Amino acid sequence: MSYTKEICKAKLEVHGKTYELPVYEGTEGEQAIDIRNLRAQTGLITYDPGFANTGSCISNITFIDGEKGILRHRGYDIVDLAENCTFLDVSYLLVHGFLPNRDERANFSELMNQHSMLHEDMRRFYNLFPDHAHPMAMLSAMVVSLSTFYPELETNPNEAIDITVTRLLSKLRTIAAFTYKKMRGEPIVYPRPDFSYCENFLNMMFQTPVNKYVPDPVITRALNQLLVLHADHEQNCSSAVVKSVGSSEANLYASISAGVSALWGARHGGANQQVIEMLEMIHNEGKHDIQAVIERAKDKNDSFRLMGFGHRVYKTYDPRARVAKEICRQVLDHLGKKDELLGIAQELEEAALADPYFQQRNLYPNVDFYTGLTYRAIGIPTNMFTVMFAIGRLPGWIAQWLEMRSGSEYKIYRPRQIYNGPTQRDVISNWDRS
Ligand code: SDX
Repeated sequence: MSYTKEICKAKLEVHGKTYELPVYEGTEGEQAIDIRNLRAQTGLITYDPGFANTGSCISNITFIDGEKGILRHRGYDIVDLAENCTFLDVSYLLVHGFLPNRDERANFSELMNQHSMLHEDMRRFYNLFPDHAHPMAMLSAMVVSLSTFYPELETNPNEAIDITVTRLLSKLRTIAAFTYKKMRGEPIVYPRPDFSYCENFLNMMFQTPVNKYVPDPVITRALNQLLVLHADHEQNCSSAVVKSVGSSEANLYASISAGVSALWGARHGGANQQVIEMLEMIHNEGKHDIQAVIERAKDKNDSFRLMGFGHRVYKTYDPRARVAKEICRQVLDHLGKKDELLGIAQELEEAALADPYFQQRNLYPNVDFYTGLTYRAIGIPTNMFTVMFAIGRLPGWIAQWLEMRSGSEYKIYRPRQIYNGPTQRDVISNWDRS
């Protein structure tokens, strides 16, 4: 049972009547009015497009304080986790609720290895995608296809879930690497038992018959840290989609596949790809007119937004963006690379943070602003950036899905609406069929 205590009652006065609604407080002081009986008591519903003010659940997994720029997973601060843990450690923490000890970590790593292969028939799926297929489309299709090769989740859901979780965590990385090879027209590279999770991914991506990939500890650590930064983010768009699909009792593969599709959107996980495309656009124009870009982002008549800036919850600097910016600097230094796009990004950040429009709306860099620059330095193509986000977010999606499905308040997601369409009318007298 999640810990929340009722601290007082909220009074609602409407149509001459007064109602009392319980007010709960979570362990970090988040307070919420419980409206579960609102319609039964008052006949009214609430209206909150985008659910910006609506809590969908009580959760033990991730805490965000958007005003203070705090992000914690199971009580551990994101900077602490990125500095001291691998992505597998954090995946284990999110799914199981505690960091693994040495034996638990070794077992988890061995399970990852055992489940890292794809069914050989799945390889043929890649031949059927057109060459220009976006990797997020292939990722979503391949994930839901896993349910056809591993149907036991339907027959023994409880027993199979641990295997399914490990299978998904390990295979998504393989699917991503195979997708990259498909796009490059290169032969796929199988996972190796002697490589770690991130070493395996990088090897499956960059090993070719004529180019031996040698793991670089600095790059492997940077990738671990970037995946940790993306691991979970409470009730974000794609997590809400994963839970909504799962709330209908659809299986985990189908739920994750839907989450991949939601993440693809430019306003969500697709932003990391859009950030680089924005920076390249500025760079290719040659004159680096930073102020002109800032003015476009402020212009309500222009659909352009400063990608990688702004956030539904963070009204200060996204703590993940700070870490991502430092990782980018370290990787470029280590590789001896200079990327003019980093300079443009820093100029954009400086100009935006000094501009009243951005200040008044509390618009700061978010996780997507700097991550793409590191992926680019590693050699990952821009259209794979959101795939990287999906690999990182997978343990969070799974943890949120498991918590929902095992929770005492598990209900099918079904929001209400205010109807504003035509009132009743007759077909015959109102239908011009001339
Ligand atoms: C992620 O939810 C999560 O946790 C997501 C995420 C995760 O880990 O799962 O953190 C990952 O999705 C990060 C966000 C990536 N997206 C982008 O970088 C795209 C650019 N950002 C925006 O589209 C926007 O900031 C959102 C979508 C992220 C948040 O939008 P909201 O909360 O719905 O806010 P809004 O669109 O209502 O904007 C409020 C105001 C508006 O201006 P006014 O109508 O008040 O005059 O701020 C403006 C917006 O026009 N605004 C921007 C802007 N973002 C908001 N103006 C210019 N550039 C921007 N980037």
